[in-house]
Amino acid sequence: MPTPRIVRKRAEMRDLIVTNRALGRRIGFIPTMGSLHLGHTSLIDRAASECDDVVTSIFVNPIQFGPNEDYEKYPRDLHADVHLLSQHGVRWVFAPDVQEMFPPGDSTRVEVSGPAKPYEGTLRPSHFSGVATIVLRLLQSAPAHNIYFGAKDWQQILVIRQMVRDLGIDIEVVTCPTVRDQDGLAMSSRNAYLSATERKRALVIYSSLRQAEKLWCSGVAINRIEQELKKMLSAQEIQIEYADIVDAKSLLKMHKNNPNASVIILIACRVGSTRLIDNLLLPSQTLSSC
Ligand code: PAF
Repeated sequence: MPTPRIVRKRAEMRDLIVTNRALGRRIGFIPTMGSLHLGHTSLIDRAASECDDVVTSIFVNPIQFGPNEDYEKYPRDLHADVHLLSQHGVRWVFAPDVQEMFPPGDSTRVEVSGPAKPYEGTLRPSHFSGVATIVLRLLQSAPAHNIYFGAKDWQQILVIRQMVRDLGIDIEVVTCPTVRDQDGLAMSSRNAYLSATERKRALVIYSSLRQAEKLWCSGVAINRIEQELKKMLSAQEIQIEYADIVDAKSLLKMHKNNPNASVIILIACRVGSTRLIDNLLLPSQTLSSC
């Protein structure tokens, strides 16, 4: 497959997309922060199956990291990323530098509320404003037909969907299933921070989600399931930030099982110093029903 063309400038990226749209080509866009793994390539493969051309952005977005977060140490390897993308038929890689996306004097941010408020929004106060701002700017540079996200970042998808609705952005947001390693650990660029023993301990995140699902299916009360979930995580010395059963659309806490609601278990925790998130839609839920 041909090597993707690396585009550094917003205007050039936009021209390429606009020109190809005018030729009748359908464009799929996958925004990423690089350090690509099978989770990303599954999004790319899905886009390639639904679109004529795929564009991927690689940009470690400084404004979505809090002051004590891992912006500086976030893994970056453009060469390896482009090599991987070339094997998945990506046509363009949009890889601007920070100045290109945030020129000197830049002072505009997207203010987010609603689904951006609880959970990550409380723990990482400027995170979703940073995500929404960059996704909007990336979409202005790459005005594709479809944009693809992985379900692991569940709350992020709700925030993006809300922004797309509120600002009337002409794009289809596609949610794709979380990709897991064979042992169940959800793929994440931050898994690279885990030591071998931490990685083993991290497996309890998925096993506790599956155990909670079993309890849910046998009709156990929600607060008991949450207690069990937290017990399992704590037994592996996982530091829990939240482990809650919530309405998958509103993110409001569920107090009683409701067969008509879309329900999801959300987890954020630290394994050593590495922060990981994961989630599981409870049975009878499918990505398209949420
Ligand atoms: O999910 C991510 O990798 C990032 O939040 C995104 C959407 C690329 C914005 O920087």
